[in-house]
Amino acid sequence: MKGEDLTETPIGVLVSGSGTNLQALLDADRQHLLGGGTIKVVVSNRPKAQAIERAGRANVPAVVINHKKFPDRESFDREMIRVLEEHGVSLVVLAGFMRLLTPMFLSRFPGRIVNIHPALLPSFPGVDGQGQAVSHGVRISGCTVHFVNAGVDAGPVIAQAAVPHLPDEGREPLQQRILAQEHRLFPEVIRWICEGRVWLDGDRVRYRNLQAAEGALVSPPLDFDSR
Ligand code: GRF
Repeated sequence: MKGEDLTETPIGVLVSGSGTNLQALLDADRQHLLGGGTIKVVVSNRPKAQAIERAGRANVPAVVINHKKFPDRESFDREMIRVLEEHGVSLVVLAGFMRLLTPMFLSRFPGRIVNIHPALLPSFPGVDGQGQAVSHGVRISGCTVHFVNAGVDAGPVIAQAAVPHLPDEGREPLQQRILAQEHRLFPEVIRWICEGRVWLDGDRVRYRNLQAAEGALVSPPLDFDSR
């Protein structure tokens, strides 16, 4: 896996909610923009998640595994592993999936689970990253794609997009602008992984053939930004 070119990467996406990130991934898949990655199955722990309809519209199998019907986290995770294996999944993508994964699940897909979080980690992990950013009055927040480990939003960071938070701006517009960046960032990072240009080496993220970002985002913007 590490750094190799893979011809095809079967992807399983875990969801719990509206699935706008799933939609961005499905759209990228349809346009063959996932670098050989293909979404084979969508798993939702919530029976009414809007994400299930999105999968259906894209003709991708969607499986509901209701966590409430399992006595403990292990048995729930075991069923998820069974379904993911049934679809040959080798890369697990968490797109708004609101459950913690057990060490058993993590060890089944080592270095092959990624998550997106709506804040610049390690700032504001856990629920409502956008609301936490607003409460703290930070002027720049954003989103992070990271490999998943046993901590909460604590795994090695792969890529981040910074989004300005305007003074006096509420949570909702910030959330929307962060979400728009999530939809750009997530499919691209999945493509890098499927192309073998990003991989996890121990607890370090390795990269190959990626460009270096330039410039700086200043918020509020400077009056004399050309200096
Ligand atoms: C996103 O903000 C994502 O960063 C977080 O959960 C939200 C999911 O939104 N993990 P959606 O279901 O993709 O619309």
